[in-house]
Amino acid sequence: MNVELEAARELLDNARRIVAVTGAGISAESGVPTFRGPEGVWKSYRPEELATPKAFGRSPQLVWEWYAWRRKLLEHCSPNPAHLALARLAYDHLKVAIITQNVDGLHTRAAGDEGGYADPSPALPIELHGSIARDRCSACDSRQPGSATIDVTSLGTLPHCDRCSALMRPDVVWFGEALDRVLLDQAFHLAKSADVCLVIGTSALVHPAALVPLTTLDNGGKLIEINPHKTSLSPYASARLSAPAGTILSKLIHS
Ligand code: OAD
Repeated sequence: MNVELEAARELLDNARRIVAVTGAGISAESGVPTFRGPEGVWKSYRPEELATPKAFGRSPQLVWEWYAWRRKLLEHCSPNPAHLALARLAYDHLKVAIITQNVDGLHTRAAGDEGGYADPSPALPIELHGSIARDRCSACDSRQPGSATIDVTSLGTLPHCDRCSALMRPDVVWFGEALDRVLLDQAFHLAKSADVCLVIGTSALVHPAALVPLTTLDNGGKLIEINPHKTSLSPYASARLSAPAGTILSKLIHS
């Protein structure tokens, strides 16, 4: 591990541009369940069964109940040392960008006053899959802050749009939906010009996000993977740190 840690440190120290691509594993130590671990299952439903437009069409109440449960859970979670170390890296070096698949908002919180920053902008992430904290109108796309208290007794009690009265939905990307084009282009552009991509806590199974690290690789950059388990990206990693992100990132990134 020490050899890999040293190799990763050297790659970071010599890099001019760095992108960090994160997934659910970076928030595991904050108490947020990953998607594909056993604790990702809620009331016997897997995320793939609920995070779809079809599931919402069939039962908006069930899908809203799941999101309200996740929002409640997040009220008791805080950024862990991995979010804080990455925010510090991005804050100290302007050539670092954080790209996340997570909708939990923990990178954003680490970039703000929970990380001790008055001006969070350099450490704000690109949230490829949206944010669970916002609602979006299913008709007119207008957005508003979401609440963790959702009354799911009937369709009428679910959140409705202030502007057009249609049903609101969580402002996240569901399976089968397209990602925001502008954010995606930005992510690929950053990955292309990076000489190091830090891939943290993702199973790298969901596209197009999983292609972002490969873009760095295809353009001559190197990968550092932080994940206790191997993924399809592991064979391409120049350094692989097989440890929980919270423990290892604070060792990797000096203050
Ligand atoms: P997954 O749940 O698929 O993968 C989590 C990864 O984190 C696994 O590879 C674990 O080995 C690793 N892991 C677990 N604990 C860790 C720790 N403490 N430190 C580091 N790594 C750890 O989550 P994602 O790859 O983020 O999409 O999933 C990608 C997308 O699929 C999600 O954004 C979501 C999901 O369904 C949508 O909802 C559209």
